[in-house]
Amino acid sequence: MDDLNQVASEVRVCQKCPLAATRIKAVPGEGPANAEVMLIGEGPGFNEDKQGRPFVGASGNFLNELLAAAGYKREEVFITNVVKCRPPGNRDPQPNEIEACSEYLERQMLLINPKIIVTLGRFSMSKFFPGAKISAIHGQAKLMNGRAVVPMFHPAAALHQPALRQSIEDDFRKLKQIIAEVNQSAASTLASKAVSQGPASKKAPSQDDSADNGADNGGESQLSLF
Ligand code: URA
Ligand code: SF4
Repeated sequence: MDDLNQVASEVRVCQKCPLAATRIKAVPGEGPANAEVMLIGEGPGFNEDKQGRPFVGASGNFLNELLAAAGYKREEVFITNVVKCRPPGNRDPQPNEIEACSEYLERQMLLINPKIIVTLGRFSMSKFFPGAKISAIHGQAKLMNGRAVVPMFHPAAALHQPALRQSIEDDFRKLKQIIAEVNQSAASTLASKAVSQGPASKKAPSQDDSADNGADNGGESQLSLF
């Protein structure tokens, strides 16, 4: 049976793309297997490459603050990247590198099965929203396969740009509400199945109705379906 340690051990010795030649340490990612939130960044930077851990430099400190403001401890979320080895000089990861590394990310997603995936930056966003513009869709949760995927700006970019910083702070603060809506939508989907399978069933509520309910916060729903 696959598990997160197995994935991490394979990543640490992986030679599947050219980034293996220039890395110091591969960075598989970290966090509990039962995390409800999974954050996917771009790739390790200078500090991450030295330590073998994700988001440990300046953008990592900012990410820790964002998580705290959203009501999460860093230890309770899973944090990883699209590519597990540092692109030299922090250049953009290349399509062949992202493709070679995607197997590890997919296994991590299957194993963790998070309620919500937060993509940080454009490379991570493109995995779920090909061709989308981050300035147009950041903070908008989409329900995909029973979980929410929310694109956000990259903390390294947002840290020093006041407008982006405000956006990412606002987006992180919506996380708990989005999870409440995912849970509620799952519960109403189950309930509607139970009704439609019951003997006296007339018309089950449609999935669209249930998705519109939103969390019990008196506000607008944060979750939209494709
Ligand atoms: N930026 C990333 O995208 N990932 C890290 O792990 C650190 C910085
Ligand atoms: Fe392997 Fe991914 Fe590192 Fe490339 S970036 S060597 S595919 S672990």
